[in-house]
Amino acid sequence: MQQPPEPSPAEQTATETTGAKATGAPAAESGATAVDASWIDASGAEASGAEAAERLAVWLIPVLNDNYVIVLERRGQAVLVDPAVAEPVIEQLERRGLQLVAILHTHHHQDHIGGTPGLLRRWPAAAVIAAASDRDRIPLQTRSVADGDQLQLLGRQLQVLAVPGHTAHHIAYYLPATPASGEPPELLCGDTLFAAGCGRLFEGSPAQMRASLGRFAALPDATRVWCAHEYTEANLRWAHACVDGADPAAVPIAKRLQAVIGCRQRGEASIPSSIGLEKQTNLFMRTADAEQLAQLRRHKDHWRG
Ligand SMILES: [Fe+2]
Repeated sequence: MQQPPEPSPAEQTATETTGAKATGAPAAESGATAVDASWIDASGAEASGAEAAERLAVWLIPVLNDNYVIVLERRGQAVLVDPAVAEPVIEQLERRGLQLVAILHTHHHQDHIGGTPGLLRRWPAAAVIAAASDRDRIPLQTRSVADGDQLQLLGRQLQVLAVPGHTAHHIAYYLPATPASGEPPELLCGDTLFAAGCGRLFEGSPAQMRASLGRFAALPDATRVWCAHEYTEANLRWAHACVDGADPAAVPIAKRLQAVIGCRQRGEASIPSSIGLEKQTNLFMRTADAEQLAQLRRHKDHWRG
């Protein structure tokens, strides 16, 4: 059994690593027994049969304590985003009879790249796509990309966005909507934007993070947001505690917190979010300037709830 890599504290200090099973659901904040949610299909229930086979499905594999490996699937082929570990992911792809064709990396942290060597042993022809500027820290790249690059994978266009802040060379992948087939826009944002939060500023400045979040805010409100960690409940508890009651975000944050508490109690993922929802309830996306983002980030870094 491959040992899971040490996860990096992408955002949280309140969420401790508990050594949860690699293929189990993310551990609940309360420490309650996690419900098996390793097959969460968040691709939407409206598509079925032949129509579903033609459309891109996006779903999650929960691994480690609170990581998500995002899976893009179409016609028997799969693309992974940020595989922290290999074995549970191989098991799930094989169970569905999927062939891995590419791995997308958003940044170099071990809980985003740790599974790639093992996955390549199983699928040696799979492409490994990551930032050219992070070639030293993200090995095994077969396609190195930069801001503005466009890729075609599984019948969809992927646009590369440079979004520094969490790390210096963090990138995200945006899939524009395909109106003809009814596929929504998708954002694969790693540890830059979280549901109701953002990544810690390990290598970047508040101004860089604010600019990165601003790029996301310019995307369509319907864009589905696939971040790499299940931090939503803790993020909303923090936001709920620090937002002023007169702030127009206060009620939406309170409503979202209650919805997410219920979701987590049922053992369900709170992901995907949407750009529209984040613009409404994510305090980091509502800052007036870099100094306000810096203050919020410092407050969140030291908040223990
Ligand atoms: Fe990270």
